[in-house]
Amino acid sequence: MTDRVTFDGPVILGAGLAGLTAALSATQGAAGKALVLSPTPLATGCSSAWAQGGMAAALSDEDAPALHAADTLAAGAGLCDPHAVELLTTEGPAAVRALAALGAPFDRQADGQFVLSLEAAHAKARVARVGGDGAGAAIMAAVIATVRATPAIKVRENARARRLLQDKTSRVVGVLAEIDGDLVEILAPAVILATGGVGGLYGITTTPAQVRGEGLGLAALAGAEIADPEFVQFHPTAIDIGKDPAPLATEALRGEGAVLRDASGRAFMADYHPARELAPRDVVARAIHAERTAGRGAFLDATAAVGEHFPHEFPAVFAACMGAGVDPRVQPIPVTPAVHYHMGGVATDLDGRTSLPGLLAAGECAATGVHGANRLASNSLLEAAVFGARAGRAARDLKMGGEPLATTRTPDLPDAALQTLRQAMSRDAGVIRDADGLARLVSVLDGLEAEHAGPGGPAPTLVAAQLIARAALARQESRGGHFRADFPETVAPHRTFLTLDASQAALRYAAE
Ligand code: SIN
Repeated sequence: MTDRVTFDGPVILGAGLAGLTAALSATQGAAGKALVLSPTPLATGCSSAWAQGGMAAALSDEDAPALHAADTLAAGAGLCDPHAVELLTTEGPAAVRALAALGAPFDRQADGQFVLSLEAAHAKARVARVGGDGAGAAIMAAVIATVRATPAIKVRENARARRLLQDKTSRVVGVLAEIDGDLVEILAPAVILATGGVGGLYGITTTPAQVRGEGLGLAALAGAEIADPEFVQFHPTAIDIGKDPAPLATEALRGEGAVLRDASGRAFMADYHPARELAPRDVVARAIHAERTAGRGAFLDATAAVGEHFPHEFPAVFAACMGAGVDPRVQPIPVTPAVHYHMGGVATDLDGRTSLPGLLAAGECAATGVHGANRLASNSLLEAAVFGARAGRAARDLKMGGEPLATTRTPDLPDAALQTLRQAMSRDAGVIRDADGLARLVSVLDGLEAEHAGPGGPAPTLVAAQLIARAALARQESRGGHFRADFPETVAPHRTFLTLDASQAALRYAAE
């Protein structure tokens, strides 16, 4: 018999920046409470803590939210929701200042102004950083300290969601969680998904490997509307030293003037785009993919641009390289594209509400519409902070739902099957896609689903992979992070919305 408890406030699944910001905002006010379930100890296992770049916001006198919005819309390749972008960029400066007020030690000039860096596809220097490449870890440390000091927020570590609980109207009324190995039904007025992205579904990722679309899969299994799953962003310069996950060589290095070269030392970006190293991220990723596929290799040469300044300007990159025997002060860094961010996710409105009453989503697992087909660099921590706070506020007003219907926990994929899935995703739903590869991928995923579905249905990770593969197959064009070798033109300016109908005997995946 599974234990049942009732919690009088939102249950938040995930403890990255979006989840913890939602918890802080849900508990502002007299009676607010929040329960955060984190599969791993806080500050580990979430992409937020690994972010190197920083937070983009119009923080200088030369900048304005409208300019930031214009760059965000341009990067999004026609699919951003302009209202969501306006909100993100208008609320952005206050969100950065709020984190600074919590103690996030952003780099400052002598007069106290933020030090702001330039990154690719930004018209202005607007990325607020911490200690060069340590923004994510430092921001998370400040937020975690605040959460720990807030008695109204309860945190359970080693706690994973295994199924969303729903009443007979499909309203989400809680979560079936596994806490320290025991299953418990937690009934609550609201569930906020903040489970992060899909990097661990791929063979090469810059995110923690355990972040593999679980929230997306759980939401889809509950019947929530999913938006734009085909849009996956590949970071061009993961460090290729055979590590899983692959450490990142931040884009800021190219902002500082680092050059991409092949193994013979030839700088190759001029062959691909007039902006060279500062071309949009998808262009740089495809260029590096092409050079590597042609056998020429790809290396980021920061020896002249950064050189001796590496240890204090980019300590995380420096440590990762030195740990693998590459001294980036004097040697080019071997690089490869790697999955970095998921633009798609659970469709939400501007307050994080999904299509299912009682269920909200924020951060990378949500599709608010701010990223369109391609996220602008350093907009993700910002989105987590702005929309996490909005989702937390919206969840405050919700009342308890009805009696949950009986349900069964979802299974995990066995490790060998997960490795098969990861390799297939990288090969066939990677930087360059085509119909043959995607059809082969769907058949691999169908085979895994047939072999490994249990009484609780398919593993949420497998559902997330299916959503990406099916939507990528259906989108017969190239746009933003989605490039089809067989459909290279950009011709279909519509978003994808999908619902997985789990009430049928065979699950139906349909891209509309
Ligand atoms: C980077 O530092 O290159 C990543 C920044 C981002 O993805 O927003």
